[in-house]
Amino acid sequence: MTDVAVAGGGLVGLAVAWRAARRGLSVTVVDDAPGTGASLAAAGMLAPVTEAGYREEALLRLGAASLERWPAFAAELEADSGLQVGLRTAGTLVVGFDEDDVRELDALHAFQRELGLVAQRLTPRETRRREPALATRVRGGLLVEGDHSVDGRAVHAALLAAAEAAGVELRRERVADVAVDGGRAAGLVLASGEPVAAGATVLALGAHSGALPGVPALPVRPVKGQVLRLAGADGLLGGTVRALVRGRHVYLVPYGGDRLVVGATVEDRGFDARVTAGGVHDLLHDAVEVVPEVEELELVETLARWRPGTPDNAPLLGPGPLPGLVLATGHHRNGVLLTPVTAEATAELLATGALPGVAAPFTTDRFGRT
Ligand code: GLY
Repeated sequence: MTDVAVAGGGLVGLAVAWRAARRGLSVTVVDDAPGTGASLAAAGMLAPVTEAGYREEALLRLGAASLERWPAFAAELEADSGLQVGLRTAGTLVVGFDEDDVRELDALHAFQRELGLVAQRLTPRETRRREPALATRVRGGLLVEGDHSVDGRAVHAALLAAAEAAGVELRRERVADVAVDGGRAAGLVLASGEPVAAGATVLALGAHSGALPGVPALPVRPVKGQVLRLAGADGLLGGTVRALVRGRHVYLVPYGGDRLVVGATVEDRGFDARVTAGGVHDLLHDAVEVVPEVEELELVETLARWRPGTPDNAPLLGPGPLPGLVLATGHHRNGVLLTPVTAEATAELLATGALPGVAAPFTTDRFGRT
């Protein structure tokens, strides 16, 4: 019997496991292919301001709280794992290409100022001075110095090493269900039928969190995203560039020396894993419009995965619909950003029984409230 069983070895599940083990709990993580879900596709943006949607102020506050934790989280993770995670603090530039895009930039800037966020509106000349590789016809920019990025795959590798060093057991098997005993979550059931008995059970299965037979339905749905990885981009961009290209959103995130992630489509198509010609075409077309030199880069990877979407785009944290079940899922577009605050709050709940205030607005019963 382990203190904690974690279903899911993606960024969130492993970070929860690592922090819980560091608090003295015995932890088992179950995942047949850790890090091959949304964690593999994530571009690694730590961008609460530039990801903020209208009417998402609570999520924005949680994102800001997690961003604040990232430097210490990264430093501790690097120390525990002996691996680098590629935290970049070069800021994020949002750019627009036509009059509608510029109007949208102004609206975004007004919204950010209303919320007291720090963002700076740039002229076309200032925008290109900041990122000289941008197309000459860029019509303006919005600089958010505080929105950063990290190499999500490097973070996952570091979490695997740090969790192992902290004594976390990783079972590379598929989770079939949550074990329920007397109306209480009592661990996990593996696909082989073998139980993993635990005092507390954490659900961190990303987009798959809504579909376990033993757990009352959770409001989590897959939101497909296609992403591309390009090589040969050494020095091309100083930081993340997000763009509106005639109303369509695209982002370019440099990482790992000469690599660039270009993302992402947003599609409600269930668990459709196909990389489509249209998806790749739109991403490449828009990326080339923003940074013409992208045309010369090597296309080294295309990938489709699923964000765990929720009705309000915010995560599900804290106690689940069964006693003994803890949720760490539904992170939608912000899984990498929200990993530190999710891990800290969940480990605190597991160790003390109390959910910290920062996570309290994100319990699943909010969908039952009127
Ligand atoms: N956070 C970027 C995305 O979900 O595409």
